[in-house]
Amino acid sequence: MSKKPMRLRRSQLAVPGVSEKMLSKAAASNADHVFCDLEDAVAPSAKAGARDTICDALNELDWGNTVRCVRVNDIGTQWCYEDIITVVEKAGKNIDTIMLPKPLNASDVQFADTLLTQLEMKLGLENKIGLEVLIEEVEAMQNVNKIATSCARLECMIFGMGDYAASQGLVMENIGLNESYPGDIFHYPRYQVTIAARAAGIDAVDGPFVDFKNTEAYRVECQRALALGMVGKWAIHPSQIDPALEVFSPSQSDVDFAREVIEVYKKAESEGLGSVGHKGIMVDAASSRLFQNTVDRADLIGM
Ligand code: COA
Ligand code: MG
Repeated sequence: MSKKPMRLRRSQLAVPGVSEKMLSKAAASNADHVFCDLEDAVAPSAKAGARDTICDALNELDWGNTVRCVRVNDIGTQWCYEDIITVVEKAGKNIDTIMLPKPLNASDVQFADTLLTQLEMKLGLENKIGLEVLIEEVEAMQNVNKIATSCARLECMIFGMGDYAASQGLVMENIGLNESYPGDIFHYPRYQVTIAARAAGIDAVDGPFVDFKNTEAYRVECQRALALGMVGKWAIHPSQIDPALEVFSPSQSDVDFAREVIEVYKKAESEGLGSVGHKGIMVDAASSRLFQNTVDRADLIGM
C-alpha cells in the first residue's frame, strides 16, 4: 500500500459553503482541518453559488497549515460530479482533500477517485488530492472494510452519526446525544469504523455533536472516540475546536512517559530481556508498541 500523507485531524471544522464570513473565520481558526460544505449545510438552490464562494475562499484566504477540504454532495445526487469538477478546476492546487458523504460501497468511492485522477492529469496538478469518506448509511457499515481499502487515495473515514441514526432507525433526542440507551449507542458502529480504518492504515474520525453549547457532553464524546483509536472529532461551531484539540493531544507527561517506556524496552531488548519492570508496570514488546502510538501522535503534532 502506498504511503499516505500524514495530516492532523484532531478537530475538523464544518463550514457552510455559502457563508463568506464563516469561511474567513474558519481559515483563521486553530482547527487542524476545515471542510467547506456543499452538502447538508447548503440548500439545493444555493449549491452552484456555494461552489464559487468556496473556491474564492480557498484561493484568496490565508489558511496557514490548515488541511483544506471540500465536502461534495453524494454520488446519488445530480450535483456530485459537477461539485468535484468545478472545485478542482477552480481551486485544485489549494485543496488537500475531498470529502465524499454517503458512499454505500467501494465503487462509490472509486467513482470519485477516477474523477480526481482525470482532473489531476488534465490540470497537471502537482499535489495529489486525498479522499475522506463518511460512513453514515447501514449499507456502508456492512461494507466498511471494502470501503476502507477501496482506493490508495483514501485517507480517512468519518463516522457520521446523524445520517447513520436515521438510516438505522435509531431513536435520538438530537444528533450525537443518546442518554436513554444503556451503554453507548454508538459503541458498535464507532468500533467497526475504527477497526476498518486502522486495518487499512487510514484515520478514523468521529462526526458531529450538535448541542454546541454543551461542552461537557462534547468532551465526553471526544474521550470515547479517542479511547477507541479515533484521531479526532468534528466541530460544527468554533467553540468545539479547543476541547477536541485538547482531548486528541496527549499531555506532555504522557508523551515523556511513552518515550521513556520505549527506551526502557530497547535497553532491555539489547540486554537479552523480553520483559522488565519499570515504575511498577511490566514493559515488553506489546507495551512498547502501544506507547509508540502516543509517540507517533506527538511527532505529528510536533510535541
Ligand atoms: N465556522 C466558522 N465560523 C462559525 C461557525 C463555523 N462552523 N459557526 C459559527 N461561526 C461564527 C459565527 O459566524 C459567529 O461569528 P461572529 O461572532 O463574527 O458573528 C461566531 O462564530 C459565533 O457564532 P454563534 O452566533 O454562536 O452561532 P450562529 O448562531 O451564528 O451559528 C450554527 C450556529 C449552528 C448555524 C453554525 O455554527 C453553523 O452553521 N455550523 C456549521 C453547520 C454545518 O456546517 N453543518 C453541516 C455539517 S454537520
Ligand atoms: Mg450526513
